[in-house]
Amino acid sequence: MACKPNREHRADAATAAQNQRQLRHEHARSRSADSLPNNALRHDGHTPVPLLDHLNRRSVPYADPLTTLHWPSLSLGDYWLPPHAISLHGIEEFEAMPEATRKRLSQFEFAGFIQAGLWLEALFMERLSQGLRNTVSAPEHAYRLHEIREEAGHSLMFLQFLQECGLALPRNETRRSRAADLIGRHAPINGPLFWLAVVIGEELPNRLNRQLRRNGTAHVNPVIIQMCTLHSTDEARHIAHARDALARRLENAGHCQRRVLAMLATTLLRQSVRIFYVPPAWAYERAGLASGIDWQRRARNNPARQAFVAQCVKPTLSFLSEHGLRIHLPGW
Ligand SMILES: [Fe+2]
Ligand SMILES: [Fe+2]
Repeated sequence: MACKPNREHRADAATAAQNQRQLRHEHARSRSADSLPNNALRHDGHTPVPLLDHLNRRSVPYADPLTTLHWPSLSLGDYWLPPHAISLHGIEEFEAMPEATRKRLSQFEFAGFIQAGLWLEALFMERLSQGLRNTVSAPEHAYRLHEIREEAGHSLMFLQFLQECGLALPRNETRRSRAADLIGRHAPINGPLFWLAVVIGEELPNRLNRQLRRNGTAHVNPVIIQMCTLHSTDEARHIAHARDALARRLENAGHCQRRVLAMLATTLLRQSVRIFYVPPAWAYERAGLASGIDWQRRARNNPARQAFVAQCVKPTLSFLSEHGLRIHLPGW
């Protein structure tokens, strides 16, 4: 399978180890410098100041996607997803189609992915903004603002992409996860369910960004690679923060609470996979493949797609399992 799980896991482990080393160093430095108020190193359930300081420093300087990306290089002559990340990859009939058709499908699939991203990021920004009322330190307040600025930049980049892409896309067709909408909007801010939804919402789409960034450069249009690189670089910080916040809130969770959270996580994961990894029926139809519903069903039953998705979800399942949320995700 072209998903390269071993390479991906090694990269994850290396990044995590690097973050841990950096955090230990900064924690030690902050203690020796004695530059923080006594209560600033750790607040109940809140991310410790050394990690926030680290994330704040990494968030500067800010790269505005609208001025960073070279939009004229976006071309309909290229793939917008690497072939192994197209939902029908591995299906004999699809592989036998003209390359122009396969490229066209990669373009509509990517555009659908971006539309779903717009919905999700609006939800993030709404809740992050509300969270500004509950911050307990200047570094925490600053990091919230960095995240809001970065998510706003991503969404502006998505809008610009949809304007520049040259594809005829359906209007008002954005798919959304009902569970994520409900939980994302109503879970008590900073509670375990809130951070669980954030971890899943940040990590699942970002796995596809990382696939493009790591395995797409030989095939995929350079503007798409730029978009995914810029996005996944910011998301790495958001995910480090969300994982830390969730881990802290699970430290004292009881057995029953973990079981309820695991059930909700299963629903969130299943719906997120459908939104971000099962393209809408219109994507197939606009690429010239009728009927869209049949192709969508074939994608869901495609063993190569199932293996690709399983590899993309695996790091999140492992993280949740390490923190006592055991999730079985046999199908989606
Ligand atoms: Fe984002
Ligand atoms: Fe994010």
